[in-house]
Amino acid sequence: MIRFGVIGAGRIARTFAEALKKTEGCAYAIASRDAAKAEAFKTMHGFEVAYGSYEAMLNDPLVDCVYIATPHAFHKAQMLLAIDHGKAVLCEKAFTVNAAEAEEVFARAKAQGVFVMEAMWSRFLPTVRAVVRRVHEHVIGTPCRLDIDFSFLGDPNDTRLYDPKLGGGALLDIGVYAITFANLIFGAPERIETTAEMHDQGVDIAETITYHYVHATATMRVGFTENRPIEARLYGSEGSIRMPWFWQMETAHRYDKGGVLIETLSHPHRANGFEYQIDEVIRCLEANKLESDWMPHRTTLDILRQMDTLRHRWSMN
Ligand SMILES: NC(=O)c1ccc[n+]([C@@H]2O[C@H](COP(=O)([O-])OP(=O)(O)OC[C@H]3O[C@@H](n4cnc5c(N)ncnc54)[C@H](OP(=O)(O)O)[C@@H]3O)[C@@H](O)[C@H]2O)c1
Repeated sequence: MIRFGVIGAGRIARTFAEALKKTEGCAYAIASRDAAKAEAFKTMHGFEVAYGSYEAMLNDPLVDCVYIATPHAFHKAQMLLAIDHGKAVLCEKAFTVNAAEAEEVFARAKAQGVFVMEAMWSRFLPTVRAVVRRVHEHVIGTPCRLDIDFSFLGDPNDTRLYDPKLGGGALLDIGVYAITFANLIFGAPERIETTAEMHDQGVDIAETITYHYVHATATMRVGFTENRPIEARLYGSEGSIRMPWFWQMETAHRYDKGGVLIETLSHPHRANGFEYQIDEVIRCLEANKLESDWMPHRTTLDILRQMDTLRHRWSMN
């Protein structure tokens, strides 16, 4: 059984811990900078061991795989530390704050023969995979337009979202989901157009990103400035697919050219949706693989390079 150790006892670590219970993985260790917080997390989520430092947990030989659940700016250093302790790594999105950091992580993992994967949980959702399959079967003909809306009203006191030193900004937090989805459907863009609104603290808080492909366009509106229905819509020559809550998708609806509902794809989560990426990590580790075929290093790098380009256009780096 693969024993997981979690770095950071925060919000998303709780979601991960709940999903882990519905997998073959073992909820083994939790590490926080605060020993009392780690102890409380252990009790609440049924973990076996709590550590008051990340390094102490990494020195535990029983930990097989580390899940990194901290703000983006810390991912690179924490991954390198875990790799140097010989631990497999599942690291939250955005994997790192830029592609150069990810290159360093993947090079170290390769040198040490350690598995590493970005925790882009959306890619592993059964409904997302079913949609991608259906699109490749041409059920909506040739896909030509993707519209994605992903915005919510952020709390400026939430430093993880607004502090540039923590790797804040809408792109790294939620834009990464839209970009991942566009890449799943169309691959890398030929040309990018974009505008962004910046917050006083220096992070992007509302952006429009248009990806142009030879015969298609993807438009993504992302931000922390308003609550809007979160949805992706994909249009093809023979129909369309509507995907409410696309990044945590359980249900998608396919329509014909006339707008008549033809098919509903529905796969309710076993837990909360995080379980499918955990299943993948377990499969890969049991097969002694160093990367996942469905979330390969090259895809993480492609998407980070696209995000580097966007931030460069907004004069952020
Ligand atoms: N929140 C979500 O809905 C969500 C969804 C999917 C993915 N994610 C991703 O999950 C990761 C963590 O997000 P989160 O919302 O769970 O973060 P969070 O609750 O703000 O922080 C998680 C943990 O990171 C450490 N941390 C936080 N602020 C820190 C600081 N200023 N300096 C050093 N360590 C700090 C703390 O670990 P200690 O326990 O050691 O104090 C904290 O418990 C991010 O990559 C995010 O994009 C979040």
